[in-house]
Amino acid sequence: MFAIIVSCLLVSACHGSTLRNRRFPDDFIFGVSTAAYQIEGGWNEDGKGESIWDHLTRTNPTAVKDVSNGNIAADSYHNYKRDVEMMRELGLDAYRFSLSWARILPTGMANEVNPAGVAYYNNLINEMMKYNITPIVGLYHWDLPQKLQDLGGFTNPLIVTWFEDYARVVFRSFGDRVKMFITFNEPREICLEGYGSTSKAPILNSTAVGTYLCAKNLLMAHAAAYHIYDKEFRSSQNGRCGITISVHDYAPATNSTEDVFAAEVARQGEWALYADPIYSAEGGFPKELADKIAVKSAQQGYPRSRLPAFTEEEKVFVRGSSDFFGLNHYTGYLVSATTHELVPKPSLWDDMDVRMYKNATWPKSAASWLAMAPNSLYNVMIHLKARYNNPVIYVTENGWSTRSQGGLIDDDRIRYYRAALENVLDALDAGVNLKGYMAWSLMDNFEWLQGYTERYGLYQVNYSDPMRTRTPRKSAFVYKHIIKHRAVDYEYEPETMVMTIDEGH
Ligand code: BGC
Repeated sequence: MFAIIVSCLLVSACHGSTLRNRRFPDDFIFGVSTAAYQIEGGWNEDGKGESIWDHLTRTNPTAVKDVSNGNIAADSYHNYKRDVEMMRELGLDAYRFSLSWARILPTGMANEVNPAGVAYYNNLINEMMKYNITPIVGLYHWDLPQKLQDLGGFTNPLIVTWFEDYARVVFRSFGDRVKMFITFNEPREICLEGYGSTSKAPILNSTAVGTYLCAKNLLMAHAAAYHIYDKEFRSSQNGRCGITISVHDYAPATNSTEDVFAAEVARQGEWALYADPIYSAEGGFPKELADKIAVKSAQQGYPRSRLPAFTEEEKVFVRGSSDFFGLNHYTGYLVSATTHELVPKPSLWDDMDVRMYKNATWPKSAASWLAMAPNSLYNVMIHLKARYNNPVIYVTENGWSTRSQGGLIDDDRIRYYRAALENVLDALDAGVNLKGYMAWSLMDNFEWLQGYTERYGLYQVNYSDPMRTRTPRKSAFVYKHIIKHRAVDYEYEPETMVMTIDEGH
């Protein structure tokens, strides 16, 4: 017995053969994700309006690391049939993509619906349906129509009505075939990075003021769209509507009471701010964080908290407004109670008063923020299960960044995916109500302010080729093998790099 354990510790192959006996349930959904601005291109074609990313890259091109933009990107506006072919090659059950609001409603408002925009998404959805690939459709992945940004975007409470009108057009146009809608992708990144810093459009940098206005308005807009689906469409369409929130793992650096509390405050500031109002039993913003913001706001001379509270009626409106938890997960942090000294005030960092860092031994990706934190996906799912009474969860994104010159042999990405999927199996064993997993991403895409300097694709995209040729990386073969055998096989190596479509796909 001892000999077996020792050899298992030494030989990863032994680990592999043990894992091979652990299978994903038959109804577990495997997919991949993308987002409109990151892949579509066709930025001003066929009547599309300008989005905040079109605007930023046009008016402030050097904000992007390689001075690039999404004007053409992977050109999925013209290559969608090839995209569906790749889904068939991988043997996917589902594909999660997002709609460009400004492609459907060029002014952002529902006065004018662009038929060519609706037709593009109809074509994509219909092509997927031919091959039984389930569409999972996001309404918003960071590309607000610029005309709405000119009116304040998510800092204007009227965003609730504008989003409601847009959602109605979407449900009406696609809900006969789409049975899973996701209102927003990652409120934290929209509000904190877009409004509270300069790392995403509209780079407003209204630290800890714009962030919190956005948080409340976005949650109200989400809930409004959910209730519209519920009241006007659910009975005829029989689908589900939810939201996707990015949840990294925040573990206390030590088990001291101070660090344990600091880790909880970090969770509240980083994601529970957006998740508690929807999924917690009480509703409303997380208490410890809200208290801290109220105290700091008073000290800073604000007549009221920078975090706008929900009324009791609003709390009820938002609470429970999601049919599942869409979980984007990439990495983890250690948290200690040592306070940040050199942060702007006000800021989320100052409000939280915690220090977050990564263990230097965790393998690093090409993205400065993305390291492989051990078991982080498992940890967050166990945490969500306890915090929100075991909600239905879909992992809607999970992936690994490599450098643009990284090529097709992406063993570090494979290592990351295998570890993550082992976490998925462990979470299922622990009773997490997890129904599916989507890898980020189907193919290389415009990585926001990093431009094309980083790659997340299972397929490489050749940006010097006008056709934007897609070529499978080694990770594509490994993911396909996992999906086909519904198990993680550590010994599998593709024999060739030639991709084919298996029978039945
Ligand atoms: C976003 C993607 C992005 C990925 C990698 C996620 O937070 O939803 O759009 O490309 O992270 O940075």
